[in-house]
Amino acid sequence: MVAQVMEGLRVVEDGTYLDGTFGRGGHARCVLERLGERGRLLLMDKDPEAIAAAEREFGADPRVGIRRGSFAELGGWPDAAGGLDGVLFDLGVSSPQLDVAGRGFSFGKDGPLDMRMDPESGRSAADWLATAEEREIADVLWTYGEERHSRRIARAIVAQRAAAPIARTAQLAELVASATPRGADRIHPATRTFQAIRIHVNRELADLEAGLDAALEALRPGGRLAVISFHSLEDRIVKRFVARHAKAPPTNRRLPEAAPFVPRLRAIGDARKAESGEVAANPRARSAVLRVAEKLGIGNGESGIGKADPAQLTARMRRGESRTAASSRFPIPHSRFPASAGGRP
Ligand SMILES: C[S@@+](CC[C@H](N)C(=O)[O-])C[C@H]1O[C@@H](n2cnc3c(N)ncnc32)[C@H](O)[C@@H]1O
Repeated sequence: MVAQVMEGLRVVEDGTYLDGTFGRGGHARCVLERLGERGRLLLMDKDPEAIAAAEREFGADPRVGIRRGSFAELGGWPDAAGGLDGVLFDLGVSSPQLDVAGRGFSFGKDGPLDMRMDPESGRSAADWLATAEEREIADVLWTYGEERHSRRIARAIVAQRAAAPIARTAQLAELVASATPRGADRIHPATRTFQAIRIHVNRELADLEAGLDAALEALRPGGRLAVISFHSLEDRIVKRFVARHAKAPPTNRRLPEAAPFVPRLRAIGDARKAESGEVAANPRARSAVLRVAEKLGIGNGESGIGKADPAQLTARMRRGESRTAASSRFPIPHSRFPASAGGRP
């Protein structure tokens, strides 16, 4: 979806952009090609191997900044807090993570059951499965994997670990296959279980929610947010986030009148899918959904790149200056939607 992402980000030569999910730099490279000498590209990834690849390829480029960590913490990076003209999150795992058996992401390749994007932080999948309660395992499989057989699989995991630790990806894949009835599904029976455990051990949905908030704060008016999701849980969070900041909540005549709603974002087009040529070359792209939104500010809808700084505006409003910005145009955050990823019925 590189072309659609570039179109969505609308890169300008001297802008500052953040790629929060560097991976192996497919998108970063295209952004950099469009930047002039005064442009900046900030790269983040949780994965030390991705960061090492970024250092190798872009470390000497004075326009590039590189930081290892979650995009949820982008607000703590002074370079990013200075104001961004575009933010990209290309969610999920990279091909190198899936392809290397030693990372433990793939049920198709036997390796240690790890699944952490940052192997130096948090608990591995094997550690978590060794101690989690049966009910917690079932809830994770249901909530993050939408796995219909979550209870059966959780029961089988707990029974198996009493005999021997579940330490390898192939062991878990076989266990799931033997615990679930053969259905008409064309996907491997362990697909949803692996997805769910990966999302859980990497705190992917919590990071996404925090990352969207942080991106909105760091963007300048006119700046663009582009997010590529790979499953409905992620896309739902992105869709609701954009709606929450773009559309007024429904009014309730029984409640006292709320402060007037002022949008902070506008959605740019509808959700977009990968084109057929890309899906043919990379079947994983079949599930990709891109959403783009633009941050609003003074002169809503206009490109305000480089013109206004939201922090300064807030300060002016607090001092009672700039009544236009304070009373009608400047954003008031609303939180209409719950942050959770969905629950068990
Ligand atoms: C789908 S790949 C990105 C591919 C990249 N756009 C490219 O063109 O090569 C996702 C990458 O994001 C990283 N990642 C996922 N969640 C992250 C987060 N919350 N913070 C930072 N990096 C994250 C993963 O480690 C992985 O390297």
